Amino acid sequence: MSTKEVLNFDHIVVGSGLAGLFTALQLSKLGSVAVITKRSVDEANTKYAQGGIACVMDTKQDSFDEHLRDTMVAGDHLCKENIVKTIVENGPAAIKELIDLGAHFTTRGEMGHQQDVGDFDLGREGGHTQRRVLHSGDITGEEVEKILIKACRANPNIKIFEYHIAIDLITSGRLGWMGEDCVLGTYVLDIRHNIVKTVTSMSITIATGGTGKVYLYTSNPDIASGDGIAMCSRAHVPIANMEFLQFHPTILYHPKVKSFLISEAVRGEGAILKRLDAKGNLVEFMDQYHKMASLAPRDIVARAIDNELKRIGQPCAFLDIRHKKEEFLKRRFPNIFGKCLEVGINMAKDPIPVVPAAHYCCGGVKTDINGFTGLAGLYAVGEVASTGLHGANRLASNSLLEALVIAKFAAKDIKSKMKKFSDERPSGKIPTWRSGNATNSDELVVIAHNWDEIRRFMWDYVGIFRTNKRLERAKNRIKNIRSEIEKYYWDFLITPDLVELRNIATVAEIIIDSAMSRKESRGLHFNADYPQREPKMDYVDTIIQEPYT
Ligand code: SIN
Repeated sequence: MSTKEVLNFDHIVVGSGLAGLFTALQLSKLGSVAVITKRSVDEANTKYAQGGIACVMDTKQDSFDEHLRDTMVAGDHLCKENIVKTIVENGPAAIKELIDLGAHFTTRGEMGHQQDVGDFDLGREGGHTQRRVLHSGDITGEEVEKILIKACRANPNIKIFEYHIAIDLITSGRLGWMGEDCVLGTYVLDIRHNIVKTVTSMSITIATGGTGKVYLYTSNPDIASGDGIAMCSRAHVPIANMEFLQFHPTILYHPKVKSFLISEAVRGEGAILKRLDAKGNLVEFMDQYHKMASLAPRDIVARAIDNELKRIGQPCAFLDIRHKKEEFLKRRFPNIFGKCLEVGINMAKDPIPVVPAAHYCCGGVKTDINGFTGLAGLYAVGEVASTGLHGANRLASNSLLEALVIAKFAAKDIKSKMKKFSDERPSGKIPTWRSGNATNSDELVVIAHNWDEIRRFMWDYVGIFRTNKRLERAKNRIKNIRSEIEKYYWDFLITPDLVELRNIATVAEIIIDSAMSRKESRGLHFNADYPQREPKMDYVDTIIQEPYT
């Protein structure tokens, strides 16, 4: 394995979802940008986002205050109010930039409303008291990702490295250099050519998305292995609130379909969650759990489904939208309608079988409002970051909004600090990657085995319903697995699977430790050993400060 190649850029962005590509476009105004992405450029969580982008587009119908309040309530009052305020208020300008790049959002005219043609058709999702979700049919993420890729590809300052996986951050502290710790670059495995490259830059923005693959069942694509969180932790950057892992209530339950989301927007258009009763009839149940019934915040809905299914011993719940016309459903949800039909479910005639699955990581790399991590030159944007917006449970469709706004702030902050980063950067030769005495091993089966084991016990012990005993069991297992991985990590030639396994194991342990240290049930973190609390306006982050190396 060759390890000698060194590349230099002004800025690096790791990840190619909305957060990564929008940040890259902003940074391209300042200099050269390398976008490092471990699969094809479009393979990111963004592509699978159906619902849309929550944003107050019309202050006659809605208000920033209401968006702020809904976010705080959904987040169980653990959101940082000033962060929420800044993000919702800066939303419309960021959306305008996206539209200027060519993004199209469905209009009322396209939905068949004769009046107000040209105004956006705003959707509604769980926890929102207003219709405020901009959408492109039900493939919003795909539409946005497409226009961002086009803009990045056309930009001479941006070079996209597909099938390149970042292994680790290079920091002056880790190299043992004197002076303030700062990020210098990253080691990157070129998957197709099996070369580890050293890529250096003045700033690095981590935009690697989420951690869904830590769990057995997830709505996330295979890339969601928490790479950014694990890399930042190894670089001594604090990680916040990782106990708040969001489970989406409605993933299609069908043996032929893996990880297909039935958007919350379907409930926004009137679908009711039901379960079978003893006589085999479908009955509503969410009205017994929350005043917003099927449109309650996501943590409450996912927990209620989990509770009902365990209580009655059924494998799935159902979404019932049979009261809507087929023509409307086809027009509003063409992707979901088509996918359901492929497996013999006609949404206009059949209830849709659904189960909850891991969906979104509300914690992450701790940053300020500018995405700055506190380590000179290092930023985090999007799902990988914890700005304080989501609190204990993210309000639906707030994530793409956050990524857009923070990408702009991060680029502005980098611009203002570029001279400082460059003046204070210690000089010295950055060593290339050392693969030591590593060899190919016939023991690769341990990678697959450890990966499966982690995902299963995380689902069983650190899922929707937690107890102290379950968390202790998970902790014991992850300790053993992590020490095994660390023992063989440097013996094997580096592969993408090994990089991801190590990251998944690290993130799993951070989630477990965060969950063990929160001594209350709050938002997405439900521990049966701690009684439900009254909502109160206090803010206590769970911070994992120690590096998980
Ligand atoms: C959905 O469409 O239900 C997902 C939207 C989100 O996770 O914000």
